[in-house]
Amino acid sequence: MEKKRIGIFVGSLRKASFSKKVACYVGGLLKGRFAVEMIDLAPLCMFNQDYDDEGATPAAWTAFRQQVKRLDGLLFFTPEYNRSMPALLKNALDIGSRPMGQNVWDGKPAAVVGVSPGKIGGALGVQALRAPLAFLNLRLMQQPEVYLGDAAALFDEQGEPVSEGTAGFLKGFAEAYSAFVG
Ligand SMILES: Cc1cc2nc3c(=O)[nH]c(=O)nc-3n(C[C@H](O)[C@H](O)[C@H](O)COP(=O)(O)O)c2cc1C
Repeated sequence: MEKKRIGIFVGSLRKASFSKKVACYVGGLLKGRFAVEMIDLAPLCMFNQDYDDEGATPAAWTAFRQQVKRLDGLLFFTPEYNRSMPALLKNALDIGSRPMGQNVWDGKPAAVVGVSPGKIGGALGVQALRAPLAFLNLRLMQQPEVYLGDAAALFDEQGEPVSEGTAGFLKGFAEAYSAFVG
């Protein structure tokens, strides 16, 4: 049987992104059981409804919408930007939600992980993200919530967690999400 496809969305384009480090680690934990895809948000220009209305939909939007449609599950890893989510993720959600009536997010099982070098683990970024995810009718895993604070100290150069506590916590999250999707 074909493996279910899990798409990983990271709310940062930064080369040394902490969110990306966590996403890659969790993606690695899921790889045996699922086909894991890192979704590249960099090619998505800012949403403008005129492109769709005027038959000039950017090729990157079309490819992105098709890629999301094929996914069986989604994982979002987000920093907090100015007490909200990064525009990168909101823009991706907006693009996938249109044209009207063609919401590619509809009904897909999803979970959100907050990551920050600060103390509150991206909690307000996660909360902001949850609102459009609920509206777009994604099926959101509620627990365990993950807010990884002090992110700069959690992973080594090779992208491995430096403590067994972090590794065990993320493994527990990956198992819960596997069961949720499975
Ligand atoms: C525009 C901007 C706004 C930020 N706002 C917050 C914030 O509200 N809360 C917070 O904990 N960190 C904030 N930060 C710091 C980020 O958490 C930090 O840059 C983090 O490394 C970004 O995630 P990344 O490592 O995945 O790129 C902000 C950073 C930027 C660039």
